[in-house]
Amino acid sequence: MQPNIRPEIETNYNTMSKKGAQIFAQKIKDHPKGTFGFATGSTPIGLYKELVDMHKKENLDFSGITTFNLDEYYPIKRESEHSYYYFMQKHLFGHVNVDQSQVFLPDGAAQNPEEEAQAYETKIHQSGNFIIQILGIGLNGHIGFNEPGESFVAETRYVPLTEITLNANAKHFPNPADMPHHAITMGIRSIMMAQHILLLVSGEAKAAILRDSLFGPITPLVPASVLQLHPSVIVVSDKEAASLLV
Ligand code: PGA
Repeated sequence: MQPNIRPEIETNYNTMSKKGAQIFAQKIKDHPKGTFGFATGSTPIGLYKELVDMHKKENLDFSGITTFNLDEYYPIKRESEHSYYYFMQKHLFGHVNVDQSQVFLPDGAAQNPEEEAQAYETKIHQSGNFIIQILGIGLNGHIGFNEPGESFVAETRYVPLTEITLNANAKHFPNPADMPHHAITMGIRSIMMAQHILLLVSGEAKAAILRDSLFGPITPLVPASVLQLHPSVIVVSDKEAASLLV
């Protein structure tokens, strides 16, 4: 394993979520006024539950931090139960003492998504580098909604979703007509500016893409392979996802 990549292989999803939460919580304690990057998806739900517990039982303090999420569907209203804003409130922000005026996600209801993407990128730069960015990985290696083929130097922008991502996310949309086919996503360049990356990966289905991302060629065809160039990536996974790592 390259020295910039620190693997933390846990036995199952619960211990993986606990380990990820410990690492993230320590960064909040070390940087109580820092800016932090969050992700949605099934994988970080357990980590967020642990953070909520740490807030309730150990007074983990979110009051001084600023938060940015990787992405948001477009078009979507904030109050829709499918929005990533709603997801973050439901799983984390609604249960901790974060300052809601310092919670940022792209606005999925903005009139002009391209302008919204630019405004979001500007806001990120104004807030300074993220202390740590949580990332999941898609079955096709996407990070955020940066799909295969996307430039490594892309900034936040408005993107169409690929077939594989639409299929993976369809389970959340009982009525397919409700599913947005676009998103506003932080670009790979914006993600790579974080001081640390916390990559969370669970399950056998992700084993091959995790191996290809960490050990395969560094190529836009596997967006997560860019992480090999990041100075500090902590990979927290269960043993199924890590089963093909050498
Ligand atoms: P998942 O999504 O956690 O729901 O598997 C990860 C991703 O697509 O980034």
